[in-house]
Amino acid sequence: MDLPLTAANSDLPPLQRRMQETADLVTMALDQLLPRGEGPESRLMEAMRYAVLGPGKRLRPFFALETGRLFDADPQAVLRAACALECIHAYSLVHDDLPCMDDDDVRRGQLTVHRAYDEATAVLAGDALQSVAFEILSHEDTHEDPMIRCELMMRLAQASGAQGMAGGQMIDLIGVTDDLGGVARMQRLKTGALIGYAFEIPLIIADAGEKESHALIHFAQDVGLAYQIADDLLDVEGDPDLLGKAAGGKDAEKGKTNFVTLLGLGEAKGKVQILSEQAKARLDIFGSSAQILRDSVDFVLNRQN
Ligand code: IPE
Ligand code: IPE
Ligand code: MG
Ligand code: MG
Ligand code: MG
Repeated sequence: MDLPLTAANSDLPPLQRRMQETADLVTMALDQLLPRGEGPESRLMEAMRYAVLGPGKRLRPFFALETGRLFDADPQAVLRAACALECIHAYSLVHDDLPCMDDDDVRRGQLTVHRAYDEATAVLAGDALQSVAFEILSHEDTHEDPMIRCELMMRLAQASGAQGMAGGQMIDLIGVTDDLGGVARMQRLKTGALIGYAFEIPLIIADAGEKESHALIHFAQDVGLAYQIADDLLDVEGDPDLLGKAAGGKDAEKGKTNFVTLLGLGEAKGKVQILSEQAKARLDIFGSSAQILRDSVDFVLNRQN
């Protein structure tokens, strides 16, 4: 199946325009890739589409596609892998919102899947989104070389499983005690691993030099950690209407430990600032060709939604 490779332009500044174009493109591609069905199981397919096609920022696909440009990676292959990643991300949010986890009612400005449907459907929608992700990656349209498809699947399995996102969610639920190192590890797994995979996609698909790969992997680690701290700050200071999800100090109320609960708002903001400067410096090696990526750091870390 040929996925769309261009999306409509708008009058936004270059970075926001690129992010908007990517988001539109990815949403169109996901719409094509997600199953539709008839019969009683169509309820599940509707719930999957509801979870994925809602107004997400498509940040991980943006990172994948932007990095793909740096390495001249096949855009169709990167787009399909980015869609697979977004399916895993959406599944992680559906399960994260369940009553047995964070117990949230609103996500992306709409009712969470278990509130719009029911809990069992939300569990199944998450399960089936995970399967769809690997189905997309395994399809020969993603890449003609089966070794590359295998590598894409293996790395996504690692990034989303017990040593990645799911493992991080386990640590989040058990809770870490007053230990910054423990919190950093939790964040690296629960959020950093999937953000890291976004940058790995083009590295797997295209030929990237060792120095360039290292620079990007370090960039991804800094951005991934900073992104979760920024999210934890928004949980305290964010406006739920802009965020499209609950805020008002819900994490602390639920007894979560994170950089904000441990360090306080001021120090946590300082950490985001240090990480963002460090991240941008990692891209020096790419010169002006990485400008959009460089500019995106401040933009995503200062987001209000
Ligand atoms: C939310 O991710 C969960 C975190 C890891 C902080 P995003 O902020 O990327 O959420 P969407 O995809 O735009 O809804
Ligand atoms: C990240 O943490 C969630 C996932 C890994 C899915 P949060 O629980 O803080 O994410 P939000 O705030 O609900 O989006
Ligand atoms: Mg959570
Ligand atoms: Mg949550
Ligand atoms: Mg949060």
